[in-house]
Amino acid sequence: MNHRVTRLSVGVIGTGNIGTAHARSLAREISGAEVSWVFDADSARASALADELGAHVAPSAEQLIASSDAVVIASPDAMHAEQAILCLDAQRPTLCEKPLAPTVGEAQRVVDAELDLGRRLLSLGFMRRFDPGYVDLKAAIPSVGTPLIVHNVHRNTFAPYGLTSAGTLTNSAIHELDINRWLLDDEYASVQVIVGRPGPDTPEGEFDPMLVILTTERGTLVEIEAFVNAQYGYEVRCEVVASGGTLDMGDGSFITRRADRAVGHDVPELWLGRFGEAYRRELQAWVDATHRGKTSGATAWDGLVATITANAAVRSITEGPQAIDVPARPALYA
Ligand SMILES: NC(=O)c1ccc[n+]([C@@H]2O[C@H](COP(=O)([O-])OP(=O)(O)OC[C@H]3O[C@@H](n4cnc5c(N)ncnc54)[C@H](O)[C@@H]3O)[C@@H](O)[C@H]2O)c1
Repeated sequence: MNHRVTRLSVGVIGTGNIGTAHARSLAREISGAEVSWVFDADSARASALADELGAHVAPSAEQLIASSDAVVIASPDAMHAEQAILCLDAQRPTLCEKPLAPTVGEAQRVVDAELDLGRRLLSLGFMRRFDPGYVDLKAAIPSVGTPLIVHNVHRNTFAPYGLTSAGTLTNSAIHELDINRWLLDDEYASVQVIVGRPGPDTPEGEFDPMLVILTTERGTLVEIEAFVNAQYGYEVRCEVVASGGTLDMGDGSFITRRADRAVGHDVPELWLGRFGEAYRRELQAWVDATHRGKTSGATAWDGLVATITANAAVRSITEGPQAIDVPARPALYA
C-alpha cells in the first residue's frame, strides 16, 4: 500500500448482515478509510447501502476489486475462497470474513495463491482475537499456571443460514477452533464430536447441540458446546482451568441490574450485540496495518488450520475420534 494514501478506499463485497455492519463502521467509526464501492449479488441491497453511505455500486466483484485500494469480503462462506483469490491476483489487501472456506481444498488454494505471491495480503475475520474479554483472558493465563482444560460455550438464538451439523462446525464453532489455538499458543492433536438428544428445532437428521472435545499437542483439553438453536439469546463464554487457578471470561455483560426483586442482565439476540467492540477494533487494526503495508489478526494459514480442524470434527460425527493432520507451516506464516 502506498504510504501517501491517507484514506484507504475500501470496497465491500456482500452487503448482508456483517457486510453492512462493517461498511457502516468503516464509514462512520474507523479512521483512515472510506467505503467507495459495494457489490452484492442482490443489486437492490447493494444500492440501498451505497445510497446510505455515499458509495458506488460495482457491477461485479472483479470491477470492485479493480477500483478499490483494499477489499472486505462479506459474502456467503462458499464464495470466500474464489473472491479472496481474485483479490490476491489483483494484489489488494483484503479482510476476508470467516471461514476462509468451508472445505480444506478451497482453503488450501487461497494459501497457495498467497504463497505464489510471496507476501501476505489477506487478514481473516476471526475478530475474537480483538475482543477485550479474550485479549484479557490470554494475557492472564500465565498468572494461573499451566492450562489444563478450556470450557467454551457458543450458543446462537437460532441457527444462522439454516445451518446443518457440518455447517455448525465449519461456520459457527470455527470461532472456538481458532480462538482456543490462539489463547493457548498450541496446535490441536485430535478432535471428537459427541451428539445427544436434538432440541425441538433441530431438523431431521441433524445434531444440535453438540460437544466438541479436542486435545492439543501439549495435552490441554478443549471442550466446546456448539448450540445453534438455544432460543433464549446469543451467548459466548470461556473458562480456563489451569494448574494454579481458573479464569472465567464471563459473557461480555458489563452491567448487572437489580430491580423488582430480581437480579440479571440482558442477553443479546445476535453476535453484533456481544462482539461490536471486537469488530470495531478488528477493522481499525486492519486499516492501520494496511497503511503500513502489513496484515493484522489471523492469517490465511490460521484460516486453513481452522478449516482442517472443523472438517475433522465433521468426520468425527460419523467416524469417531480423528487425528488433526496439519501440514508444516510455511515460512511466510512464521
Ligand atoms: N466474524 C463474525 O462473527 C461473523 C458474523 C456474521 C457473519 N460472518 C460471516 O460473514 C459472511 C456473511 O454473513 P452474513 O450474516 O452477512 O450473511 P447474509 O446472508 O446476511 O449476507 C450475505 C450477502 O452476500 C450476498 N451474496 C450472495 N452471493 C454473493 C456473491 N457471489 N458475491 C457477492 N455477494 C453475494 C447476499 O445477497 C447477501 O446480501 C459469512 O461467511 C459469515 O460466516 C462472520
